[in-house]
Amino acid sequence: MFLIFPDPQSIANYLSSLFIEKIQKKPNLVLGLATGSTMEPVYARFVQKVHACAVDLSKVTTFNLDEYVGLSATHPQSYNYYMHQHLFDLLGFDQQRLFLPDGKCNDLQEQCEQYSQRIKEVGGLDVQLLGVGSNGHIGFNEPGTSFNSRTHVVGLSERTRIDNSRFFDDKNEMPTQAITMGILDIMEAKEVILVATGAHKAEVMANYWRSPVCESMPASVLKQHPKALVILDEAAASLLPAEVCQPAMAMT
Ligand code: GLP
Repeated sequence: MFLIFPDPQSIANYLSSLFIEKIQKKPNLVLGLATGSTMEPVYARFVQKVHACAVDLSKVTTFNLDEYVGLSATHPQSYNYYMHQHLFDLLGFDQQRLFLPDGKCNDLQEQCEQYSQRIKEVGGLDVQLLGVGSNGHIGFNEPGTSFNSRTHVVGLSERTRIDNSRFFDDKNEMPTQAITMGILDIMEAKEVILVATGAHKAEVMANYWRSPVCESMPASVLKQHPKALVILDEAAASLLPAEVCQPAMAMT
């Protein structure tokens, strides 16, 4: 079943309230976070609501899904920069509890091992937020990635490089590699929420729905997760049959 909201703003409202409720119940919540344009309205609304409700975020731990190899934290297209711009610098997080892969790290292999290990050490992810790439990737786990993968370095597919180069003024700066949490790290989260919005996501969501669970459609692994929620706006759901779509009431 897909949970369908009218538009990205109502998804942002819903998710912000959901996350705040979870943090109020468990102040030391461990959140897995995603980047990309899908998450921008979500974080913007979350920031507003946290301010309005005076939510204490000082014990929350976050792990980001991925980062480009070769981009420093100060590069405007790095995911580290994105997170600080959209979330981390706007709210009262404890900066020591915010984890992202380091795209400039000298020993990428060691970093990858430590990243998955650190997630385990804090007791695992309570909720992992996910977007989806047009080829079905989650994080930067491209089609063909093993479902047993841990955090690793990945060569970005042609499709992903074309999709994501829209963010780079100089297309030549678009990285060829990234570090991503593995599929197994994502699947070990107690709860997973995948969000897709816009007509340009309709095709991949129809592919997701039709696909058996297989490594050529990475997101399909979520069909095996005991607590996975897929949230779409009407545009992203436009190629799905009505019987698999559950309309949600817009939340403010
Ligand atoms: C990137 C990220 C993914 C994200 C995807 C979709 O490739 N690595 O984690 O889900 O883009 O991004 P957008 O939300 O901009 O469509």
